Amino acid sequence: MGTSDVVGKQAEVFNYGVVRQFAVMSVVWAVVGMGVGVLIALQLIWPELNFETPWFTYGRIRPLHTNLVIFAFGGSALFATSYYVAQRTCQTRLFAGKLASFTFWGWQTAMVGALLTLPQGFTSSKEYAELEWPIDLLILAVWVCYIIVFFGTLVKRRVSHIYVANWFFGAFIIVIAVLHIFNNMELPVSLWKSYSAYSGVQDAMVQWWYGHNAVGFFLTTSFLGMMYYFVPKQAERPIYSYRLSIVHFWALAFTYMWAGSHHLHYTSLPDWTQSLGMAFSLILLAPSWGGMINGIMTLSGAWNRLRTDPILKFLVVAVSFYGMSTFEGSMMAIRTVNALSHYTDWTVGHVHSGALGWVAMVTFGSLYYMIPRLYGRISMAKPQWVELHFWLATLGVVLYISAMWISGVMQGLMWRATGEDGMLIYSFVEGVKATYPFYAIRALGGVMFLSGAVLMLINTLMTIKGQQRVNPVVPLKNPGAREPGLVGPAEVAAG
Ligand code: HEM
Ligand code: HEM
Repeated sequence: MGTSDVVGKQAEVFNYGVVRQFAVMSVVWAVVGMGVGVLIALQLIWPELNFETPWFTYGRIRPLHTNLVIFAFGGSALFATSYYVAQRTCQTRLFAGKLASFTFWGWQTAMVGALLTLPQGFTSSKEYAELEWPIDLLILAVWVCYIIVFFGTLVKRRVSHIYVANWFFGAFIIVIAVLHIFNNMELPVSLWKSYSAYSGVQDAMVQWWYGHNAVGFFLTTSFLGMMYYFVPKQAERPIYSYRLSIVHFWALAFTYMWAGSHHLHYTSLPDWTQSLGMAFSLILLAPSWGGMINGIMTLSGAWNRLRTDPILKFLVVAVSFYGMSTFEGSMMAIRTVNALSHYTDWTVGHVHSGALGWVAMVTFGSLYYMIPRLYGRISMAKPQWVELHFWLATLGVVLYISAMWISGVMQGLMWRATGEDGMLIYSFVEGVKATYPFYAIRALGGVMFLSGAVLMLINTLMTIKGQQRVNPVVPLKNPGAREPGLVGPAEVAAG
């Protein structure tokens, strides 16, 4: 069979079209979203970078940054990988191709909607759910189709076993639907203005039930789905413990739901709800580390490959950051620790150790694995750039988070320092002044991280344009055969 026949056969068997679209847009949005991140990081040093226009003011483009990196970059990557993984592990073509295509165009339209409306100041003012009701409805329509496409594919699978990565993707898809609907209950008063159906402390509680589970399911569970497919594939080793993957899946899904109130310590929320949030956040450490250990230990016997394989480096560093940021989160959920960290840059450091270290790194590794295969290439056009990207990203994130940790703890200590007379030692502005050098270091780390993403975009475009070569993807198996390299409970039981 000739090269193009192999590629043609793959494309015919699997719906790679929509996967390619989402994968490429994910890289594009990475550059745009992180570009806005760098701009706001620079604005904190030079406020005049808002160019004295309302559209570029910090308050408007900060939520633009979070929406673009989480939903446009992260979301597109999740659509791409979940569609790819479901097809490969179920050995079947994506269910309802037209609906899948609608999810692509609908999701991109919603993201362009964010790009156009947030800088104009249209916002529901709920963090991570700022988009106004018409866009919320579009997202809902896309999500319902996503449910049909993803679960439809699982239903028509040609293998009896549902590989664990699909469990993680499936939980993410269902939970996000529930969160999106309940947190966005609102009364529209005009085309671009609505008011929340909840008020006061209930509004805060619903918001952080949403906010924390958005972290738990949009930024964690879903990306664990990526980990469970791409780490074993790239390491060419079965998952360390399949049983552990199932146990920590259920434990995560149960525990995350109760932890949201750790975002509302020392507020008018009843004390017992705050304590509940704290207790569940501490329990959450166990299933989180279950996942981290399973990811890292999958490399047993393949550690030597880390020296030469940049994709594996991305994946392993990502899993390590996952372990670090979840440990940190559980500590920050302790009320007395939170009394120091809340409102400071420590939170921003924690966020980016999860967002850059875990979410972005695992995405980069997975996309570098997938893109050449999607386009029938042996590797990325510039494999050495992948290594360069890895170092830019790793050093960038280390600079970012260490600067934020130091400035965060410093801010917390300065704000609470009192003299013998009981008066505050530092005025607020002294704290701001002391923070400047750390903002500069963070901006430098951000520029490095962004440069890596720009390299990736150019490399991706060159890979797509490059000459057609042999497709390393193995052809569709006989019904009942599993995706090579992955292991299920039957094999585990058989030793
Ligand atoms: C065991 C897991 C985790 C726990 C218990 C946890 C706990 C916490 C706590 C206590 C805060 C500070 C709340 C405050 O003072 O306002 C926080 C903030 C945050 N965390 Fe985590 N975290 C965990 C994992 C993660 C991961 C893996 C990510 C990202 C991928 C993440 C993203 C965030 C975000 C975005 C915020 C900021 C929310 C905001 O105020 O806007 N967390 N987390
Ligand atoms: C070049 C990379 C990036 C840079 C320079 C950057 C910069 C920033 C800055 C300056 C802030 C505002 C902090 C503040 O108000 O004090 C911020 C907030 C935030 N960023 Fe990023 N960011 C980057 C990438 C990302 C990525 C990839 C994600 C998610 C996947 C992300 C998620 C967030 C979130 C959730 C917040 C809100 C944090 C909070 O409310 O505590 N960022 N970012």
